[in-house]
Amino acid sequence: MVFRELASATRTVRRFNESASVALEDLLEIIGTASLAPCASNLQRLRYSIITGERERDQVFQGLGWAGYLSDWQGPGEGERPRAYIVISSPAGEDRSFTGIDTGIAAAYIVLAARNKGLGCCILLSFSRERVAEIACTPDLRPELVIAIGYPGEEVILDNYTGSIKYYRDSAGRHHVPKIPLAELIVKET
Ligand SMILES: Cc1cc2nc3c(=O)[nH]c(=O)nc-3n(C[C@H](O)[C@H](O)[C@H](O)COP(=O)(O)O)c2cc1C
Repeated sequence: MVFRELASATRTVRRFNESASVALEDLLEIIGTASLAPCASNLQRLRYSIITGERERDQVFQGLGWAGYLSDWQGPGEGERPRAYIVISSPAGEDRSFTGIDTGIAAAYIVLAARNKGLGCCILLSFSRERVAEIACTPDLRPELVIAIGYPGEEVILDNYTGSIKYYRDSAGRHHVPKIPLAELIVKET
């Protein structure tokens, strides 16, 4: 896939094929790709946890907040939950000036690398820090972001923007994501 196609295909997935497991080697390769991401002062402070165990997955899942705009949907049901999570953490108690930026860039590498392997992801900032820290972190680490991973179990369609940025599902259950056109994003060209 050329990069533009990969970027277009890398949509947030929230319903997965839970019967398809995710290979540990794939998760390691995806995190290996994230380890190549740029980061402030090349400090490389971020750390990664892989959660695939059934009990641990269930514990992480209980603390997640899914799809704020889909108010009548409570998140993936049994059979459509993620088969793995990657948790990105940073050192607790250290200067956090660039942590959010570094975390976001690493997460972008992860979702692109995962899509390149046919996997789907949902980046989640809405999660229970206590619950995730207990399962995924050592005491010196603070969880920054949870990335749910699995083989996609839903169709996601990029939509032309018609005044609302809210994603929605159509009557066939397909998820639509409106994106603002380039012409509206460029503010200056000198
Ligand atoms: C920093 C960040 C935090 C996010 N947190 C959540 C979240 O807590 N729950 C959720 O369901 N989706 C979350 N998302 C996914 C966004 O809702 C999604 O990226 C957006 O709707 C656009 O869809 P797309 O990724 O297919 O372009 C998050 C995405 C980012 C980048």
